[in-house]
Amino acid sequence: MNIQEILASTEAFFEKKGLSTSRLDAEVLLAAYLGCDRLSLYTKIENCIPDKKVKEFHAWIARRAQGEPVAYIVGVKEFWSLDFYVDNKVLIPRPDTEVVVEEVLRISGEFMAEDIKLLDIGTGTGAISVAIACERDNVSVVAVDNSLEALSIARENAGRHGVAGSFFFICGNLLEPISGKFDIIVSNPPYISEREFEKLPVEVRDFEPQDALIAGPEGTEFHRSLIAGAKDILTLGGWLVMEMGAEQGDAIENMLRETGVYDRVHCRRDYSDIERVVMARRRLW
Ligand SMILES: C[S@@+](CC[C@H](N)C(=O)[O-])C[C@H]1O[C@@H](n2cnc3c(N)ncnc32)[C@H](O)[C@@H]1O
Repeated sequence: MNIQEILASTEAFFEKKGLSTSRLDAEVLLAAYLGCDRLSLYTKIENCIPDKKVKEFHAWIARRAQGEPVAYIVGVKEFWSLDFYVDNKVLIPRPDTEVVVEEVLRISGEFMAEDIKLLDIGTGTGAISVAIACERDNVSVVAVDNSLEALSIARENAGRHGVAGSFFFICGNLLEPISGKFDIIVSNPPYISEREFEKLPVEVRDFEPQDALIAGPEGTEFHRSLIAGAKDILTLGGWLVMEMGAEQGDAIENMLRETGVYDRVHCRRDYSDIERVVMARRRLW
C-alpha cells in the first residue's frame, strides 16, 4: 500500500468508529510511525510501505479506535512549542494550560531576584515548569508529584529540553514534603468533581490517570489545601497561581480572600474565553 491508500483507509476506519478527528489522527499516527512530519506524508504520498510495516501500524490503529489518545500512542505531546514525552502514567498537557505559563512568566518579571524560586505542585510531565525554565534562566524549580512514574517522566522532559540543572524533584503529597520559601507556587491540580468525571469523554475517563483528574465532590479540594499551605511558604509578595475548572473561580477566590493573607486575587480566562487561572499575591505585611 502507498501512503495515500493507508491514510484513506485509516481515516475511513476511524470515521466508522465515530472519531471526530479521523483525518488528523490518521496523519499524526502515520507520520509518527514512519518517523517523519505530517507535511512529509504528502511529499511522499505515492511511496509504498512494506506489508510487514503496514501490519504493525494496524496495532496503533486498533488502539486509537478503542479511544486511546493519540499522544499516548505516539508517546509525545506538544506544549508551549516543546515536545513532551508522555505515557499513560501522566496527564496529557492541554493547550489551555499555556495561559498558566504565560501568567507565571508575567509575574516573574516583578521579581528582581537573580534566582526566582518556583514550586510546581502536581508537576506531571513537567510541562508547566519545564516551559518556564526554558524561558527564564533565573528560575530554580522544585517539582512535586505524588506519582514516582510522573516524576521520572518530568525528569526526562527537563533533560530533553536542557533545563534539568534547574530542577529538584520530590515525591510526596502536595506541600507536605516542602520546607523553605518560594517566590511563586504554581499548580495545575486535579480539579474534576466526582460527578463531572462520569461525564468525561472515554478518551479521558478510561485512559488518563484518575489521580491526575479527580478532586473530591466539588473539584476544589486541592485548591483549598494549596491555599491553606501556600501562605506559610510563600515569600511576602510571592504569588500562588493555580489552574482551575470553568465555574470554580468564585469559590476559589472566596477561599483565598477568607484567609486574609492574600491580595490581588483574580482570575484569568483562557483563549476559549473560559476562566482558567486563579492567582493571588501573599500580602506584604
Ligand atoms: C491535572 S495533572 C497536571 C499535570 C501537569 N502539571 C500539567 O499541567 O499537565 C495533576 C497532577 O497532580 C498529581 N497529584 C495528584 N494528587 C497529588 C498529591 N496529593 N500530591 C502531589 N501531586 C498530586 C498527579 O499525579 C498529576 O500529575
